[in-house]
Amino acid sequence: MQAENGNKIKTRVFRISEENFDVILDKAAAIIRRGGIVAFPTETVYGLGADGLDPEAVRKIFEAKERPPGNPLSLLVHSREDLGKVAKNIPEKAFRLMDAFWPGPLTIVLEKNDIVPGITSGNLPSIGLRMPDHRIPLELIKRAGTPLAAPSANLSGKPSPSLAAHVLADLTGRIDAVIDGGGAAIGLESTVVDMTVEPPVVLRPGAVGIDELERVIGKVRPAYGETEARNGGAMPEKKAGQKYSHYAPDAQVVLVEGEMKKVSKKIDALLENYRREGKKVGLLLSDETAGFFASERLSAYECFLLGSHEEPEEAARRLFEGLRVLDMKSLDVILADGSFSPSGLGTALLNRLREAASVRHAV
Ligand code: TXA
Ligand code: MG
Repeated sequence: MQAENGNKIKTRVFRISEENFDVILDKAAAIIRRGGIVAFPTETVYGLGADGLDPEAVRKIFEAKERPPGNPLSLLVHSREDLGKVAKNIPEKAFRLMDAFWPGPLTIVLEKNDIVPGITSGNLPSIGLRMPDHRIPLELIKRAGTPLAAPSANLSGKPSPSLAAHVLADLTGRIDAVIDGGGAAIGLESTVVDMTVEPPVVLRPGAVGIDELERVIGKVRPAYGETEARNGGAMPEKKAGQKYSHYAPDAQVVLVEGEMKKVSKKIDALLENYRREGKKVGLLLSDETAGFFASERLSAYECFLLGSHEEPEEAARRLFEGLRVLDMKSLDVILADGSFSPSGLGTALLNRLREAASVRHAV
């Protein structure tokens, strides 16, 4: 259990396998039923779960993550049975989304019922709901007998965790247990769509794209920043309406967006400037952009390769790992390659890069 007096608590690590699956799920469910907090893999990122209907358990999530109060948590459900318990006035379009994308990486915001405590929903009258496409959380919800409040299992302001090691780096001593079930298959958080308004609003891009949503429910409106930095100019990245900052490593992230050759040339020029200023620089690159540089040139820098433009799924899966690896190298600046094309998971990937960046260049 989490200590009330500020003392560190012992964080148990459950390495799950076929053989011990049942035993571990029972232990984890018992912790949740006692009001504790357990991190576990989902197909998007690792989540930190507690009984979403127990205000005291939910308070522990906010405390462990140092999450600002008022930033709403979403609930994970294992079936549609509990829907009517936690949500009301569910529009027909929302059921169509569930038919098309659940279980899966889509969080659907609906009007909440009074049974959901205010602390869970950030005192909003709505609540985000998702049925994850992963056996561990589905089984955990079932055995705990309650929907789980489950934000990403990182410290607030750090990149979301795609590996159990990331959870342990941020939350050891703060949570009761982590179930280590290997890497998250998608590696970026779910798409969030608000169904309490018409047309529905996409609050966060993810693996379910706008075009896929529109095929099922018609017009939706994206609410995340798609505005580009203007011609070569750097612009500070702070969006109106983005109340809480995300994914910010300690190093300054400088993002260069545009076509690959131009991005490579701009990164080349920036590297020279930073060298003159004596700054320690790391690089987060696509294979294609890395190929622009002579390998001797790159070997002078900490460099994390995200993979090829041809495989945005792989780049998405590796992004948060890359930000975390580079952030452990005591860098002044991380130069990030924004030459991925904004389609499919590329849209979500660019969105997370923009969230992490404090400076953006468009070329
Ligand atoms: O993929 C995911 O969604 C992961 C896994 C663990 O399920 N969870 C996750 O949770 O990313 P979190 O709390 O880190 O992000 C949930 C997002 C936040 O941006 C939150 O502001 C938004 O969903 N959200 C939740 N409930 C909301 C509501 N009622 N209205 C508007 N936004 C809401
Ligand atoms: Mg999060």
